[in-house]
Amino acid sequence: MVCCLIMQTSSHAGLRAAIGRREFLHRSAVAAGALSLPASIRAQAPGANSDIRLAVLGLNSKGNAHINDFRKLPGVRIAAVCDPDRSLLARERDEAKKLGQDLAVYTDLRKLYESSDVDAVCIATPNHWHSLAAIWACQAGKDVYVEKPVSHNISEGRRLVEVAAKTGRIVMAGTQNRSNEGIRAAVEYVRSGQLGKIRVVRGFCYKRRASIGRVAGPQPVPPEIDYDLWCGPAPKGPLMRAKLHYDWHWVWETGNGDIGNQGIHELDLCRWFLGNVPPAPRVMCAGGRYGYDDDATTPNTQIAFYDFAEAPVVFEVRGLPAKSGMETMDHYRGVRVGIVVECEKGYYAGGQGGGWIYDNDGGKVRQFPASGTGDHGLHFIEAVRSRDTKTITAPIECGHFSSALPHLANISYRLGADRRPGEVRELMQGLPGALDAFDRFGEHAAANGVDLSKDKVVLGPMLAFDAAKETFTGETGAAANAFLSREYRAPYVVPAKA
Ligand SMILES: NC(=O)c1ccc[n+]([C@@H]2O[C@H](COP(=O)([O-])OP(=O)(O)OC[C@H]3O[C@@H](n4cnc5c(N)ncnc54)[C@H](O)[C@@H]3O)[C@@H](O)[C@H]2O)c1
Repeated sequence: MVCCLIMQTSSHAGLRAAIGRREFLHRSAVAAGALSLPASIRAQAPGANSDIRLAVLGLNSKGNAHINDFRKLPGVRIAAVCDPDRSLLARERDEAKKLGQDLAVYTDLRKLYESSDVDAVCIATPNHWHSLAAIWACQAGKDVYVEKPVSHNISEGRRLVEVAAKTGRIVMAGTQNRSNEGIRAAVEYVRSGQLGKIRVVRGFCYKRRASIGRVAGPQPVPPEIDYDLWCGPAPKGPLMRAKLHYDWHWVWETGNGDIGNQGIHELDLCRWFLGNVPPAPRVMCAGGRYGYDDDATTPNTQIAFYDFAEAPVVFEVRGLPAKSGMETMDHYRGVRVGIVVECEKGYYAGGQGGGWIYDNDGGKVRQFPASGTGDHGLHFIEAVRSRDTKTITAPIECGHFSSALPHLANISYRLGADRRPGEVRELMQGLPGALDAFDRFGEHAAANGVDLSKDKVVLGPMLAFDAAKETFTGETGAAANAFLSREYRAPYVVPAKA
């Protein structure tokens, strides 16, 4: 199998071909909990000389980027696309025609999955479709690259992990930082203990998000969109926002707020620096939607506290700028979107663009430049071809665990109640690393003209989570367990069992 992999890669000039790299990938895959597939399944690998026929689902933005990236990989053919928005299908068909390529187009993913002309799918739909689309793909015998978060709720994420194992498909999460060797090297440095013990891991998603506006009533769905397919497992209610595409992120039925959008990437890093641990046993979240009154239901400002045994994680989301009227965002130790791993003898500050190790006086010690994340798709394709999961840097269970982190915080938030800032502060005092984050939260709100004593802070309960059973326990367990799954709208139902 290794021989086959090396031959395969060496025939692709310009693509990385290094045994050392494979070893690094193997180590990372093992560390992330990946297992090799049984020989019977490996035997189904597409022939070494045949193209991998890929279908991309969800074309508006990220899916379009995936098409362009996968097209650049030798031995990959974009064979089909799927989107309930027919205008996007037409756009991709025209583009393929210009390139002299055939492209099958589908509005309904179930029809696409019936096709024997597709080997693998890349799912870039809205979040509420991710797990179900991936589960159906596995059941139809397709390999899957599924965007982050890999689930819209914790239970369906676990089901996807189970179905992937049962069907023996290659299933990879779109958390592309896992293919960034610069970050990997920084993880190894910190985990080697050279900075002493980790005291607290801080994650940041300070990313400007403007109001999505407020509509007076139900909006017309553009006629080119099959709204039933777009809604899928979510309720098919009237469209109560100006824009159907993208702004679904900010509505609970379809999105997970920015903590489950940009934030899941940085939470994935937090978990990675802690040694790829499963989700935390205790989680709490506070926040609100401040600065504008619009049709969104998710918060634009959050602090989530994760009480991992290894070290606490304090995660902050801010959608408002550093000060009202500005576009610049706040930063913490130079990080706007990224993480700061505070250790006994110094800290790491970085993110997708690379990072630095600093001593406790802020002096630079060592740089870990980013390697880029472009190989993530390549790793998927290599695994599809070889049937060997060694190249998979973000196995589906790894993606599931990281996706569970925003879900956990959001469940606490959704069970929360309005509190005065003083009450929240008192509670934060008992949580390592949280108090100063909350004080900065207050300063940030004030700089945006938000009076928290009037607008209040939604304070969620500290939830107890049994990570082995993936259920909540304790006093708030029953209420929290109600958010583990959703009511699926038939026939778009995640199966109760794998
Ligand atoms: N890994 C990354 O860095 C990264 C970056 C951007 C987006 N994403 C992820 O990609 C996904 C898409 O994001 P986006 O910004 O392109 O959103 P978007 O709303 O712009 O596009 C989503 C597309 O999915 C389509 N869609 C809806 N239901 C579908 C179905 N049943 N079958 C096929 N297509 C369907 C929509 O019509 C739309 O064209 C999100 O989950 C997002 O989290 C990941």
